[in-house]
Amino acid sequence: GKIVVLTGAASGIGRASATRLAAAGWTVVMLDRAFDTAWRAVDARSFAMHCDVSEPASVEAAFAAIDTQLGTIDALVCSAGTLRIGAIVDMSIADFDALYHVNTRGAWLVARAAVQLMRKRRDPAALRRIVFVGSISAIRPKVGNGAYGAQKAALHTLTGVMAAELGGEGILVNAVAPGTVDTPMIQAMQDASQTGRYRPSGTSPLGRVAQPEDVAAVIEFYLGDQSNYVTGTVIPVDGGTRAAFVPPAA
Ligand code: NAI
Repeated sequence: GKIVVLTGAASGIGRASATRLAAAGWTVVMLDRAFDTAWRAVDARSFAMHCDVSEPASVEAAFAAIDTQLGTIDALVCSAGTLRIGAIVDMSIADFDALYHVNTRGAWLVARAAVQLMRKRRDPAALRRIVFVGSISAIRPKVGNGAYGAQKAALHTLTGVMAAELGGEGILVNAVAPGTVDTPMIQAMQDASQTGRYRPSGTSPLGRVAQPEDVAAVIEFYLGDQSNYVTGTVIPVDGGTRAAFVPPAA
């Protein structure tokens, strides 16, 4: 079967995507900083390995192991991400950088390593695919979300640039932009005492927040033959939250 590498695969959207793709017949390589170091088989077609995308040496080591074990890959899903809320002018440089090193630079580092492995594919004509997990916060600015939103906006821009640069070699690059998804990341934010004026977008015009599986389904679309002529796009998976946006009063 085809081989997909997923970052942030221990939890939330990454985990739901790994489960869904394994069920669809993919060979799945799950990377996360929450996993232990060694490459290990989870079952016949799923593998897990430690990778901290904010550390270049860790990304290099993970992709060297994938190269040794599997030789090439067909697809990459970058779901590793981290959220910290705070008024942007009061955020420390260390906090801004820590977020940036996961949300933007981490995705770039992983995509860069993945493309090297994709280029080793035996059939150069076969399409290969990259999916970034962006955010609705890149499209709809929100109080308290300056660093994260700007970093996700950079990821959306990277999606377009990489699509243009890699299209000629048959590598499609797209992104999903979820609204509020019911995962540990958001559950941690629901303690309002930690987050000041920030509130997750919460329920959507569809009357509920997203489940990780709602996002995983769109990721699977981007990895399948139904999206063969789709590249450089960002699909909001937000239940209409962006469409219903009303600017806050000053
Ligand atoms: P989550 O917290 O359930 O999962 C994130 C995973 O990424 C965790 O397993 C974590 O260990 C891993 N991770 C974090 N930093 C890492 C690093 N440096 N290296 C490797 N792995 C790392 O969160 P969720 O909600 O599944 O988030 C997945 C993606 O979706 C993130 O990029 C997030 O920004 C994005 N997103 C989430 C939304 C939500 O409402 N939950 C909304 C919009 C976007």
